Amino acid sequence: MDWGMKNRLSRLFNTKTGKCVWLAIDHGYFLGPVSNLEDPAKTIKPLIPFTDALMLTRGILRNCVEASLGVPFILRVSGGNSIAGPALSNEGIQTCMEEALRLNASAVAISIYVGTEHEHQTLMALGKLVDEGQRYGMPVLAVTAVGKELEKRDARYLGLSCRIAAELGASAVKTYYCENFSSIIKSCPVPVVIAGGPKLETELDALKLAHDAIKEGASGVDMGRNIWQSPRAVGMIKAIRGIVHDKMPVKEAGKLLK
Ligand code: 5RP
Repeated sequence: MDWGMKNRLSRLFNTKTGKCVWLAIDHGYFLGPVSNLEDPAKTIKPLIPFTDALMLTRGILRNCVEASLGVPFILRVSGGNSIAGPALSNEGIQTCMEEALRLNASAVAISIYVGTEHEHQTLMALGKLVDEGQRYGMPVLAVTAVGKELEKRDARYLGLSCRIAAELGASAVKTYYCENFSSIIKSCPVPVVIAGGPKLETELDALKLAHDAIKEGASGVDMGRNIWQSPRAVGMIKAIRGIVHDKMPVKEAGKLLK
C-alpha cells in the first residue's frame, strides 16, 4: 500500500486497537437540518475530543469545523439527491478529488444503491472514485445506502452490497448491523464499520447494537443520530468508545452515560 494511503488510514483506525469511532454528521446533504444537527458546530463541540474522525460534507467542514482543531475527517463526496426529490438513489459525485486533497481529507465517502434503478451509476461512480483515490493515496469508504427502504437491512442484501463495494476497490465499507452480521464480515475482505441508523428507543439499545457488531467482527462505528440525538450525547460517545476500543460489555459502558 502506498505511504499516503497508509498514513490516511492510520488517522482513521486507532493504531493500538485497529478500530474506529467516527461521528457521522453528513445527514444534511440530503435531509437538510436534521433534529439536533441544526447547528453542527454546537452539536459536535463537546463530542470532538472523543471522536476518531468526523464524517461530513465540505460545506459543514468549511463553515462549522475549525481547521486548527486537526480532527481527521471523511469527506462525503456523493450527493445530488434530496428527501424531497423523486429518488434518493439518484446520487453522483458532487465534490472532486482535488477538493478532498485541498481540504486534507483522510478518506472520501460515497453511497452505493445496489438493486435500485441507479445501481449502475452509483457503482460506476465508486469505481471512478477508487481510480482517483489510488492515484492520490486517498482511501474510499463505500456506504451501502438503503434510502427510505429501511427493511432492506438484512444480511443477504447488505452482504451483497458490501462484497460488491470491496470488489470495486473500496478501502472500507459502511453498512448496518443486522441479524447474521458475521456472514457479512466473513465475505467482505475490507474493514466494515456500522452506521447506527435512526435513533433507537433507548441508549442501551444503541450500545448493544455497537457491542454486538464489534463482537461479530465490525471494525468500528460511524454513528450519528444515536449519539447526537441523545440528551446524554457526551456520555453516549464515551460509552461507544468503551465498547469499541476497550471491549467493555454493555452494562459497564452504560455506566459512562451521564
Ligand atoms: C447517511 C449516512 C450517515 O452518515 C449514516 O447513516 C450514519 O449516521 P446514523 O448513525 O445516524 O445512521 O451515511 O447516508
